[in-house]
Amino acid sequence: MRIAVLVSGHGSNLQALLDAKLSGEIVGVLSNRSNAYALERAKQANIDTAVISHQDFPTRESFDARMHQQLLTWHVDLVVLAGFMRILTPDFVKKWEGRMLNIHPSLLPAYKGMHTHQRVLNTGDRLHGCTVHFVTAELDAGQAIAQAILSVSSHDTIETLAQRVHQLEHFIYPQVVQYFCSKQLIWNNHQVYLNNQPLLKPIRFLD
Ligand code: GAR
Repeated sequence: MRIAVLVSGHGSNLQALLDAKLSGEIVGVLSNRSNAYALERAKQANIDTAVISHQDFPTRESFDARMHQQLLTWHVDLVVLAGFMRILTPDFVKKWEGRMLNIHPSLLPAYKGMHTHQRVLNTGDRLHGCTVHFVTAELDAGQAIAQAILSVSSHDTIETLAQRVHQLEHFIYPQVVQYFCSKQLIWNNHQVYLNNQPLLKPIRFLD
């Protein structure tokens, strides 16, 4: 299984994937930002990198088409979004349907989009966490595969929640990627199967 990881920033989830014992191989790391620290991590692990800046393209479609071309060059089987902060076009998503995963810092369907930790604190939620899901054209709306859940304490701030959620992300993302690599996790005709059973609700991990 040949994996490409798409990043925009720090790349701690990329690091967790690099450190995990996956039966797949990370063959390329693609960033839309040339200064993403994730690129350093990839270089240190001797993994091919590509910088494709969205600013160099007049439209989302042309940017996505260039990314698609790069993924084909790498002969990718699985695309893993790890802090990749661009909205993808439906056409690109369709091409990777069932073969593209994302991790999101909230308990989806709650808090799609940005600033999830701030929004959790503003609402006074008691529970928070992260979700791994297949990517579909609608933002953060693909079927959830796994969620890790933490209890929000009265002392939590945006920073502590970000740090605590990151820890959970590093725990669940490699596991889900490994399920895909070992073909325990399959997408077939808009249905997710885990170990040959339809996955009706996400696997849940408690902090
Ligand atoms: C992670 O918390 C991830 O869930 C989030 O960006 C962070 C990237 O951290 N992704 C999104 O918000 C996508 N909508 P990292 O660069 O250290 O892996």
